[in-house]
Amino acid sequence: MKTVLKLKNISVNFGSHQIIKNISFDLHSGEILTLLGPNGAGKSTLAKIILGLIIPNQGKVIYQTKLRVGYVPQKLSIDTTIPLIVKRFMTLKSKIKIKNVIQVLIRVDAEHLLEQKMQKLSGGETQRILLARALLNKPQLLVLDEPTQGIDINGQLTLYNLIDNIRTELNCAIFIISHDLDLVMAKTDKVIYINKQICCSGKPKDIALDPKFIAMFGYNWTKQVCIYQHNHCKYKYNLNNNKSINSYYND
Ligand SMILES: Nc1ncnc2c1ncn2[C@@H]1O[C@H](COP(=O)(O)OP(=O)(O)OP(=O)(O)O)[C@@H](O)[C@H]1O
Ligand SMILES: [Mg+2]
Repeated sequence: MKTVLKLKNISVNFGSHQIIKNISFDLHSGEILTLLGPNGAGKSTLAKIILGLIIPNQGKVIYQTKLRVGYVPQKLSIDTTIPLIVKRFMTLKSKIKIKNVIQVLIRVDAEHLLEQKMQKLSGGETQRILLARALLNKPQLLVLDEPTQGIDINGQLTLYNLIDNIRTELNCAIFIISHDLDLVMAKTDKVIYINKQICCSGKPKDIALDPKFIAMFGYNWTKQVCIYQHNHCKYKYNLNNNKSINSYYND
C-alpha cells in the first residue's frame, strides 16, 4: 500500500493554547482511518492541517506527490440571501464540466437535486452534495469531517456504505472524523482517539479491548464495537446505483 500522507510530531497552538500535541500517523491508499475524540479535542484542526489550511507550529506533513484531495467540511455556511442552486454550487471552481457534475451526483444518488436550491436541501441531501463535490477531482485522499451529522440512522448506514464503496472503487485513502462510533467502526481499518494528543490508536478490534478506550467509552459500548466488527455484513445496504465511479472519470 502506498503512503499517501505522513504526519510527524505535529503540534499546534492558538495563542497560548495548545490545541494539538505531538501527533504522528501514516495513511495509506485504500485505507480508512477514523479520528475520534470529544468536542474541542482538535479533530477539525487536524483535518485542516492535513488540508494545508492551518500551518502547524511544530512538525511536518508529508504528502504523496501531486496528491489530489477531496474535502467534506464539518460546517457549510451559505448566505441565505444569495440564491444558489446545486449545479452552480458544484461548478463554483472553474473548469468543472457539467457532465462530470452529473456523473458524481449520480454516484451519490443525488442527480435529482441538480436544480434544487442549496438552502432547501435536507441534512442528508446536503451531505451527499458535499460528498459529490469532494469526488469531482477523483481524490486520492478524502477528508470527511463528521459527514453524517444531522442524518437519521438509515441515512448514516447508507452514507458509510457509499464511502466504503468509493474507497474500493478509487483505492483512495479516507480520513474520517466521526462521533458515530459503532457505525463507523465496522468500516474502519485504523482508529485514532485524540484529546489534543493521541490517547490510543489501533485496529478497531484491538482498540475496543484497550483499557484506556474502555475507560473513555464504557464497557457496554466497546462490547458493541466487537459485535459490529463480527456482524458488519448484516449492514451491507444495496445502493440504487452500482456503477463504479471510475467509469465517470473516463471521458
Ligand atoms: N481559529 C481558531 N482560533 C482559536 N482557537 C481555535 C480556532 N479553531 C479552533 N480553535 C479551538 O481549538 C480547539 C479544537 O477545536 P476543533 O474544532 O479542532 O475541535 P473538534 O475536535 O473538531 O471539536 P468538535 O467535535 O466540536 O467538532 C477548540 O477549543 C476551539 O475552540
Ligand atoms: Mg470538529
